[in-house]
Formats: sequence, C-alpha cells, structure tokens
Amino acid sequence: MKGLVLAGGSGTRLRPITHTSAKQLVPVANRPVLFYGLESLAEAGITEVGVIVGDTAPEIMEAVGDGSRFGLDVTYLRQEKPLGLAHGVLIAREFLGDSDFVMYLGDNFIVDGIVPFVEEFRRDSADARILLTRVSDPSAFGVAELDERGQVARLVEKPRFPKSDLALVGVYLFTSAIHEVIRGLSPSARGELEITDAIQRLIEEGRTVRSSEITGYWKDTGNVTDMLEVNREVLERVEPRVEGDVDEASEIVGRVVVGPGAVVRHSRIIGPAVIGAGCEVTDSYVGPFTSLSDGCRLVRSEVEFSIVLPDASIEGVGRLQSSLIGRAATVTTAPRVPNSTRLVLGDHSSVQLPS
Ligand code: G1P
Repeated sequence: MKGLVLAGGSGTRLRPITHTSAKQLVPVANRPVLFYGLESLAEAGITEVGVIVGDTAPEIMEAVGDGSRFGLDVTYLRQEKPLGLAHGVLIAREFLGDSDFVMYLGDNFIVDGIVPFVEEFRRDSADARILLTRVSDPSAFGVAELDERGQVARLVEKPRFPKSDLALVGVYLFTSAIHEVIRGLSPSARGELEITDAIQRLIEEGRTVRSSEITGYWKDTGNVTDMLEVNREVLERVEPRVEGDVDEASEIVGRVVVGPGAVVRHSRIIGPAVIGAGCEVTDSYVGPFTSLSDGCRLVRSEVEFSIVLPDASIEGVGRLQSSLIGRAATVTTAPRVPNSTRLVLGDHSSVQLPS
C-alpha cells in the first residue's frame, strides 16, 4: 500500500501566515502539522509516499526532505495549479500504479493516527473506505448520508443544507478503482475536481464504499481557531522536560518543555506549554496551551493559549491570548504620548484590540 499526501493549496484562511509559509508547516507543539500525518502513515506500515506540492514546494521539500527521518521514501509530485483533490490523484497516477493507497490531506490532524482504519481496509474487500466524524458545522465539509443499514448512500461536497452531521475526514483509503472514475470527472462549481464527487461516482457504479466513524480527536487545521485547538490537544500529551536554563526565580508548573539553549529568567510558565530552543523568557508569564517556537523572545509580557512562530519578539505587552504570531514578528508597547495603537500589519492580517 502506498501513501499520497496533499500538501499544495494556498491556505487563504490562515493568511497572512500563509503568504510566506505553507499551511501544512504551521507548527503544532513546535512541529509542523504535516509531520504528524507523515508519522501516521509510517505507523500504519506505509513506506512509499507521494507528496503533492504546489507553490510552496521548496519549503515543503526542505522540511520533509527524502522522508527517511520518518522512515518513509518520499517522491514529490508537482501540481501546477490547485485544481482539486481528485486532480492530485490524477497527477499521481503513475506513481500510484495499481496499488491501494491512503490519501492524506496534509492539513488534517487525527490525534490517534490511522492504524485501525488501514487494517480494516486491508482486511475487507471494499473499493474505498472513507472516515467520517460528527461535526457541528457540516456545510463546511464533504457530508455523508448513510442508509438504514449504515452504508454510505450519498456524498455531497459542502452542501448548503446538509442532510447529516457526518463530515468526511481528509483521509481516504482507495483501490485503483478510483482512477477510472476520476478520469470521467468534470470540475465542480468551484472549478475543482472533487474527490467527494469521485467517491459518489464509485457508489453510483455499485462499487463498495465503506466508512469508519472517528470518535477520537480530528481537526482540519484550516483556520486559526482550529490551529489553536489542535495545539491545545497535542500539548496535553507532550512529555515534560527541561533542557534549557531556568533560574531559581522562575517557576515551572505542570507539563512544560523548555528546549535546549532556552533561557528562562524570573518568569512563570504554567503548562501545558512548549518553549522552543534558544528562546529568551524574562520577567514574563507563559500560560497554558502556548507554544513558543525556536528563537522567540518574551520580555515583560504575558502569553497564553497561543502559537508563536520562530524568532518572534514580544516585549512589554500585557496578556496576549488566542493569538497566532508570525515568524520574526515584533509586538511591543507604543510610546505613552500620544496614547495610540501603532500597527504595521501584513496583508490580510487581523487584529483584535480590547474595546
Ligand atoms: C476537503 C474535502 C472535504 C473534507 C475536508 C476535510 O475540503 O473536499 O470533503 O471534508 O477536506 O478536511 P477542503 O478543506 O479542501 O475545503
């Protein structure tokens, strides 16, 4: 069985972070979200993995390399334009050959991995297996309708009036039967070849499409709120360790990682939290569910329930909460006079000030 990871796409809902960086590389507990997916594939016994890349190809390739770090053998497949998930399969046709494969959307996050689903698929003789989960906002996803026997009856991509609350998770198990139906697909209203339509065709042709319901934690990390939620979930599971230098005047409480070379002075860190390598934390408070990436500076400031990307600097700032701070961004206080807020914001940034 092979793996196909989709790591193209533009990540518009994570702008401005995705103006300069791939959405699949936004860190969760200081590791790119994509790495968790690659690890899940390796854990399921898959070694040959094709990674579909788009405009952010150089960055993804640098981060993932040849895949050996994950025990994988990675082949990169270039998608010139984001023409849809089924288009990704189309470009991977030669790489996939007639193998069964797991298609994994690089921004999806399944905390408990995919081993049981891959095993089920290996055991049964279905043409495809989809993963479903109950969500409160089904119209943001592909939605499945099951018949009275619990079999998949119909799939609709982002329906306005969803008939169920069962969303399609971005992990799919396919046999080579999928290639035939993709060849006959036409682009959807949003101009993409939808994988949801391809699976719907399999059903219409009388092929066996089975489903498994995920009850554990799943998120599509497309927006900031979801990113922060996934970060929270993963931080709950990190193994605490202090490799950096924490002075006597500091207090570390709960599940906290302090990376090598990090210096913590006169500060309070309440876990779960991760302080990356080489960070400086002085006279500050780091609250629960916070990830500071490598090389960040936090001075006379308070941060909680946030993700801070590498080399950002936060100085003299009262409590920052539910924030995603970009690479090498600086957040400081304005001079007292005039009493104003000064902003230099990237395109598509969003700021919420206390009212
Ligand atoms: C894609 C699929 C959708 C699925 C979702 C899961 O949507 O088209 O059916 O529910 O992934 O993450 P997209 O995130 O590309 O809009």
